Amino acid sequence: MSAATDPVSVIGVKRDGGELSTAQIDAVVHGFTAGTVAPEQMASLAMAIVWRGMSRREIADWTAAMIASGITLDLAGLQRDGAPLTTVDKHSTGGVGDKITLPLTPLIASYGLAVPQLSGRGLGHTGGTLDKLEAIPGWSPRVSPTRLRTQLEEVGAVICAASDELAPADRRLYALRDVTGTVASIPLIAASIMSKKIAEGTGALVLDVKVGSGAFMTTYDDAADLARTMVELGTDAGVRTRALLTDMSSPLGRSAGNALEVAEAIEVLSGGGPRDVVELTLALAREMLDVAGRGDVDPAEHLANGRAMDTWRAMIAAQGGDPAAPLPAAPHRHTVTAASSGRLVRLDALAVGLAAWELGAGRSTPGASVSAGAGVTWHASVGDPVAAGAPLLTLHADDPERFAAALARLADACEVTAEPSARVSPPVDRVLGRIG
Ligand code: URA
Repeated sequence: MSAATDPVSVIGVKRDGGELSTAQIDAVVHGFTAGTVAPEQMASLAMAIVWRGMSRREIADWTAAMIASGITLDLAGLQRDGAPLTTVDKHSTGGVGDKITLPLTPLIASYGLAVPQLSGRGLGHTGGTLDKLEAIPGWSPRVSPTRLRTQLEEVGAVICAASDELAPADRRLYALRDVTGTVASIPLIAASIMSKKIAEGTGALVLDVKVGSGAFMTTYDDAADLARTMVELGTDAGVRTRALLTDMSSPLGRSAGNALEVAEAIEVLSGGGPRDVVELTLALAREMLDVAGRGDVDPAEHLANGRAMDTWRAMIAAQGGDPAAPLPAAPHRHTVTAASSGRLVRLDALAVGLAAWELGAGRSTPGASVSAGAGVTWHASVGDPVAAGAPLLTLHADDPERFAAALARLADACEVTAEPSARVSPPVDRVLGRIG
């Protein structure tokens, strides 16, 4: 390591608002992965990046260094019936009640595309896709690279745990950022997400960038900046990338919690389900199909005729799950009723997410277990009429002692107004913008 790439010098450059060279970025990311750059040095650099930001060139270099810290998957050459298979993936920046990956992955695969959804577990108030699917008896998130290819060729859809060897620098850095108040940085979030997606080897990618109280980005402008940065990183790496900006001021669908969200996804695959979940699934599906060269089909057809459900069953069974098994339910319930009649004008996504987490649906430390049945269901969405005394929310928990903390989180979550302003409308169409 030269004087210029010494971690203390690198931290100093960024602290003083300078631009890091490619060599400096390579040295700190490589050193952090190898253990020669100390966690406190990396945390200090991350905080300097939070405050000073990074140029597009620095973000691209940071992303490339994190990809180079591990393996990249080769998904080229996948075939079915002798014809090449196109790969396309989706990534959401995370939201409350966001179960869209579950119906979307088999829906896209049912059109003859290959969807390699390498997912993670939840930390904090947004649930992880793997935690949700583990509510299904027998289902395993572990799929070897060889089986990943076979399942993509045979079923088309795989949702599984990302290998520890994909972008390991990001894995270490994300854990550090999580406990040092340095998650909230557009350059670091963009590099983190895109390093994993590019290393995964997908040919095309659609990003769902959430905006609102339940999301990383609470303003449209910040979310658009994040989306643009990620689309550029993907495009420059040869991945056809697009982004939708979608509303996360109120939670998605009617439930937040692992088994509760699987049940809702199955409703969507059965041709029903909450309108906002169906609409967002279809909006993302149209983008994925289009970016993968299948813009000629209407994805609503395979939700209506059961083809997407057939692929869901095959995908779950291929990973040891029993798609027909009853889902676990929490033994204790607590209902919150509406204090007055009127219209629901606010249901705060963050408060609902934190309540689900207090009930046991999420974890506060990496590796902790989660409850399959715990969570929150809401009986009205924003814009719906409610009657005094009617159920507004149901809390589900394995242990009734968890209700008090969840209720405290929900104390100011709902607002019912007798005469709502004209601004209030049901959040059926969540799409706010599109980039790429
Ligand atoms: N998700 C990620 O994978 N990384 C971040 O930095 C934030 C969200």
